[in-house]
Amino acid sequence: MAGALGLKGNRNILLAASILSADPSALGNSVASLCGAADWIHVDVMDGHFVPNVTFGPMTVRALRRDFEDAFLDVHLMVEPAENFLEIFLASRPDVLTIHVEATRHIHRTLQAIREAGVIPGVAVNPGTPVSLIEPILHIAGLVLVMTVNPGFGGQKFLPETMSKIKSLARLRNVGSLDFLIESDGGVNFETAKILVSSGCDVLVAGSAIYGADNPAEAARGIKDAANAEWRT
Ligand code: DX5
Ligand code: ZN
Repeated sequence: MAGALGLKGNRNILLAASILSADPSALGNSVASLCGAADWIHVDVMDGHFVPNVTFGPMTVRALRRDFEDAFLDVHLMVEPAENFLEIFLASRPDVLTIHVEATRHIHRTLQAIREAGVIPGVAVNPGTPVSLIEPILHIAGLVLVMTVNPGFGGQKFLPETMSKIKSLARLRNVGSLDFLIESDGGVNFETAKILVSSGCDVLVAGSAIYGADNPAEAARGIKDAANAEWRT
């Protein structure tokens, strides 16, 4: 699926800007200000049940799609049970729809349903969840999101112990000739971006490091340039 969408063989590290850290009363402007600086817009959907926070819903995703027709919308569902929310989020036309393996009893069926809807299926793992739990479904996934903080809030400290999972995923992908992107989410900044890229990450999600900066577009470009420079070494 990632290959079909032109993501396979991508030779650049992609930066996804998480609007969780943007000004909620100026979301449209926050997205527009990153045009040309970030590659993807990352939308964190939280239900107050799977994680102790409540954020955006399908109406937000639908409005972003309406106003940013060409934007690559990377929707990260932190809702449980994930399958109950599929239909409504697929209708909002995301590019990637990621669900947590911890938030469904039916990860295989749910990822298949996302793929059949023509959307890239993503699977996310919390810091306490081993890669072995998702090994049987890696061939269906277009993206694996490794939480590098505990999900629920922006601005947390990066957890270095999650690095070994990124390395294992990169290894499994090589050995099995699999075709998924590895995305890291949480605590990404100028410094951690380099460590993540050298471990095998393809997509970096950054929220507070972008929107907490005086100039978000400049911060996004800085992180992306640092990540790509590391990738080429
Ligand atoms: C946390 C979210 C992240 C969050 C990252 O549950 O999934 O996407 O926005 O924020 P930072 O980059 O501030 O750690
Ligand atoms: Zn996220």
